[in-house]
Amino acid sequence: MVGGVEELLTVGRVAELAGVSVRTLHHYDEIGLVHPSARTAAGYRAYSADDVERLTEVLAYRRLGFGLREIADLVDDPATDAVAHLRRLRGLLLEQRDRAAATVSAIDRELKARSMGIRTTSEEQLRVFGAQLYEAIGSAYPATRHTEPRIAAKVWEALGDARTVLNVGAGTGNYEPPDRDVTAVEPSAIMRAQRPAGAARCVAASAEALPFEDQSFDAAMAFSTVHHWQDPIAGLRELRRVARRVVVFTHDSSDAGWLHRFWLTRDYLPEVGDLVVGRPLVDELARSIGARIEPVLIPWDCADGFFEAFWRRPEAYLEEHVRRAVSIWTRVGPDAERRAVAGLAEDLSSGRWAERNRDLVDLDAAELGLRLLVA
Ligand SMILES: C[S@@+](CC[C@H](N)C(=O)[O-])C[C@H]1O[C@@H](n2cnc3c(N)ncnc32)[C@H](O)[C@@H]1O
Repeated sequence: MVGGVEELLTVGRVAELAGVSVRTLHHYDEIGLVHPSARTAAGYRAYSADDVERLTEVLAYRRLGFGLREIADLVDDPATDAVAHLRRLRGLLLEQRDRAAATVSAIDRELKARSMGIRTTSEEQLRVFGAQLYEAIGSAYPATRHTEPRIAAKVWEALGDARTVLNVGAGTGNYEPPDRDVTAVEPSAIMRAQRPAGAARCVAASAEALPFEDQSFDAAMAFSTVHHWQDPIAGLRELRRVARRVVVFTHDSSDAGWLHRFWLTRDYLPEVGDLVVGRPLVDELARSIGARIEPVLIPWDCADGFFEAFWRRPEAYLEEHVRRAVSIWTRVGPDAERRAVAGLAEDLSSGRWAERNRDLVDLDAAELGLRLLVA
C-alpha cells in the first residue's frame, strides 16, 4: 500500500519479479492455489498485496519440494499466519542446509574410502542421500556419547519426585533415569535403532507435535536436542502441555561474548556463530515455559563427548570419531572443519595452544554456557 492506495501487480509483472512463468501463475489460478483477486483500472486481473504474500509462501514451499496439494493445505491452514509461515519456512530451509552439509561430508568420506579402494555397503550408501541430519550422522553417535553421571545427577534431581518421565529427542537413551517409568520420543530411525535392548519404549515423533494427551506425564525432559528442533518454542510448549514439570539441558548463546568463551569456537571455528543466528535465545526458551535457568559446569573428564566436552583435552578434537559424533562439525561444512582441525593440530604441536590456554590446566570444571532450564 502506498498512500492508502493498494499497489496492484499484473500477472506479467508478478511472473517477472518472482522468476516464474506466466503459465505457472495461470495454473496456480486455475487450481485455486493463488488467485489474482483484484482488477486494474483497465479491467485486467491483478495481484493484491495479500495475493503476492500467498504466492511467495507457495513458491517457497514449492522450492522446498512440497507438492501443490500439500502446499494448498499448508497455506489454507487458518491457524497459520504469515509470521508462522516464515518461521516454518526458515526452519525447513535450515534443515535443508544442514542436510546438504551432512551429505557433502558423507560424500567426502565416501570419496576418501574409494580412493583407498574401500567400497561402502549399499545400506551406507543409501543412508547418505535424502536423509535427515541424524539419519546421516547418527550411526557415529554412540562412539563417544555416553551419560555423564555428574550432569545426569543434576537432571534427575530436577525431575523431582516424577514417576513417569517423557524423554524428548531421546536419541540412544542417554540420561534416561533408570529408576522411573520412562517413555522416549525420537524422530530418527537410525537413533531409535541404536537404543540398547531393554531401553524405555520409544515413539517415533517430534517435539513440535507430541502424540500424547495433556498432562499425561509427571515430567518431560529434553537433553541436548532443542537446538535441532525446527520450532524450539512450539516444542517446549508441547513438553509443557503433556507434563507437569519440564527439564531441559541446552546452551546459552545469548551474551555477546559466548563465542569467545570457548577456545575452540574463538580460535578455530567461529562458523559456529552462524549456526545460532535467528535461533531463540535461552531466555526466550525459558520464558516460553516459565522456567528458571541454572548453569551447568562441564567436568574436565566429561564422559559425554558433546561439542564442549573436551575443553581440557584438546587432542580429542583431532580425532575423526570424536567429531563425527557431534553434529556441529557436520553443520559447519567440510572446509571449515578441515581448516579448524589443521589449525588446532599446528598449535598443539607448536605449543601455541598450551601457551594461550595456560589457565585451563588447573581447572576441574568449566563454565561454557551450558544451562539447565527447570519449569
Ligand atoms: C544430540 S542428540 C541428543 C540425544 C540424547 N538426548 C542424548 O543426550 O544423547 C539430538 C537428538 O535430537 C533429535 N531431534 C532432532 N529434531 C528433533 C525434533 N524436532 N524433535 C525431537 N527430537 C529431535 C535427533 O534425532 C537426535 O537424536
